[in-house]
Amino acid sequence: MIIFEKENGIFYLNTKNTTYAMEVAEGKYLLHRYWGKRLKNPLDKADEYNYMRRCLVPADINGKNSDILPFEYSTWGNADMRIPAAEFTFSDGSRVSRFEYRDYNISSGKSGIDGLPAVYCEAGDRVDTLTVRLEDTLQKVDIVLSYSVFEDYDAITRSVKIINRGERLLLDSALSAAVDFYGSPELEIMHLDGTWARERYITRQPVRPGNQSVGSRYGCSSPFHNPFIALCDKNADEKHGNVYGFSLVYSGNFIAGAERNPYNGVRAYIGINPANFQFVLESGDSFQTPEAVLVYSANGIGEMSRIYHRLYRTRLCRGKYRDTERFVLINNWEATYFDFNEEKIVGIAKRAAKIGIDTMVLDDGWFSSRIKDDNGLGDWYENRDRLPNGLEGLAEKINSLGMRFGLWFEPEMVNPGTELYKKHPDWILHVNGREPYEVRNQYTLDFSRDDVCNYITETLCGILSRANIEYIKWDMNRCMSAPGSAFWSGERQGEVMHRYILGLYKVLETVTQRFPNVLFESCASGGSRFDPGMLYYMPQTWTSDDSDAVERLKIQYGTSVVYPYSAMGAHVSAVPNHQVGRITSFAMRCNVAMPGQFGFELDLNGCSEKELETAEKAIKDYRKYGGIFHKGDCYRLCSPFDSDISAVQFIAEDKNTVILTVNSSKATPNAPDEYIRLEGLDESACYRCEGTDKCFGGDYLMNVGWYFVNNSENKSSIIILKKEN
Ligand code: DGJ
Repeated sequence: MIIFEKENGIFYLNTKNTTYAMEVAEGKYLLHRYWGKRLKNPLDKADEYNYMRRCLVPADINGKNSDILPFEYSTWGNADMRIPAAEFTFSDGSRVSRFEYRDYNISSGKSGIDGLPAVYCEAGDRVDTLTVRLEDTLQKVDIVLSYSVFEDYDAITRSVKIINRGERLLLDSALSAAVDFYGSPELEIMHLDGTWARERYITRQPVRPGNQSVGSRYGCSSPFHNPFIALCDKNADEKHGNVYGFSLVYSGNFIAGAERNPYNGVRAYIGINPANFQFVLESGDSFQTPEAVLVYSANGIGEMSRIYHRLYRTRLCRGKYRDTERFVLINNWEATYFDFNEEKIVGIAKRAAKIGIDTMVLDDGWFSSRIKDDNGLGDWYENRDRLPNGLEGLAEKINSLGMRFGLWFEPEMVNPGTELYKKHPDWILHVNGREPYEVRNQYTLDFSRDDVCNYITETLCGILSRANIEYIKWDMNRCMSAPGSAFWSGERQGEVMHRYILGLYKVLETVTQRFPNVLFESCASGGSRFDPGMLYYMPQTWTSDDSDAVERLKIQYGTSVVYPYSAMGAHVSAVPNHQVGRITSFAMRCNVAMPGQFGFELDLNGCSEKELETAEKAIKDYRKYGGIFHKGDCYRLCSPFDSDISAVQFIAEDKNTVILTVNSSKATPNAPDEYIRLEGLDESACYRCEGTDKCFGGDYLMNVGWYFVNNSENKSSIIILKKEN
């Protein structure tokens, strides 16, 4: 998998279908040489003709311009004035660094990253790890680049450790990965953007001259941009073209972008956002970056997504619920908001149990003075007016219906009126002497502090130990502002936002490990923290607060560019929809939610018998086919961003069942004929359509397609095709 060809100083990192190569030039400069389709022949040494002399820009390596040399991990001042991967301020005030190659190590397998979530390997996986050490001899600093090659997954993970052996220094930025592309005049950049209730819409545009980036400075990965970009050929689509994905396993501030120079060169990068970041490294200290996951596909965006899905579902998500069927839950939020008591919740649960829902989740409002969203967060004890029998009593009642009981928490927050805040006003993120900002009437607890993290861990674990709680929805409903800490010294305030995320990860690790039987779902005003970091601790995320079936077509489609449907919480809610006022059929709401982690978010007591029958059948179908949506291969066939139709196909792991989901955002009068071409079928096999006597050839379905008319009858369908031998 990993070869070091000593003669030419070239490292080859080979997965099943890809090669990533680096070269040690002149015995000291680590240059990026190649990333793409697996190479059949060795590379030559980098030569003059690769890196010509250019006017104006500084020359370094034997007269070749280092400003355009593809440094594998470029640092500021090393005669490379493009976006640096790392920047320092040294004790002498200088900011210039020069890192040279020192040595390398190849080992089998992959170790975890201390304190940070990361993709892992299991016994039997073909995974090797290369570390390459670079050194700045003057300042006595090492940079250790780690690459783990997941041969069968076709993925490479990268992370970086910076070790200070010299005098105290300031680390001003430390990205996780940068890759130079040469001869790429027409590359495009793709990212997932949005805001609350319309997260992860797909954006794609040419890489323009100069620098362009997306990122977050909000303290969470945010709904505005996702920690992911892909560079792709101009003509790349779902099935064709070169696509290079960069995804960051991190839940805080990030930056991801591309800088194009005048010579058809593009540097892509991803990592912690350098804005409001600065770490003090004393002599002997080190800094570990989060992990970037690099995926190359020669066959379009669809293949890149399937690689991420497989890797994240099986080698990022962990725990009991990684592979097992999860819960079909009903959540009371959109059914009652803050207006509930035990009787109402049990009433919802009773109706839900009758149609096969297995988990009742009690959302916001069950604790202390929380009767609306302006108080209570932080005082985590039951409101006895609402829950006279406490959580234990309610859980028992729900359990007696044959259902599990689940609970909502927002552990990272505090309302100003609470006992917790009155006792510990310095436990929030703030800057001394400045009025802190409230968002949704609440402050962010300072998770960069151990005492805060320990308090929250013990409070949560205490509640989980005394009542039979089998599911937790971990919510987070505001971005950070004025992110200072009363705990850290003035010179360490630049560490607070990253330390917050480290604290959060520590709490999550402890709580999830202490309660391995609890299913955790992450949430942040819907999908404001839908990122690989959170998936490491909690295998599913509430995808969006927008539960409208039509809006969800785009949100789920965009989310699937990186994340598997098994990670997406998706619920059937009431109509007119609470976010957009739209009325969709009950069947369509079920069909749109079903490929995700299927659930309900309404009071079923208000539903008609026909709707309840539809729900009951959908739950049965989901139990039968959920494994295909979640573990099968996903193909996006028609994009809701391009037309009124959204079509997504799933192929079971054994390839014998194919599910086609087709939904339309609006019907067309006297609609034209559409043929939706399926993918990945066996062209010589026949596929029988369940519930009919119709049989279609795999070749027909892939070349001609599934006939569809976008009229009101067909607006939403799930078609099951069984392969016949
Ligand atoms: C935001 C979440 O996304 C909602 O589902 C709900 O849990 C509310 N918070 C409760 O405050």
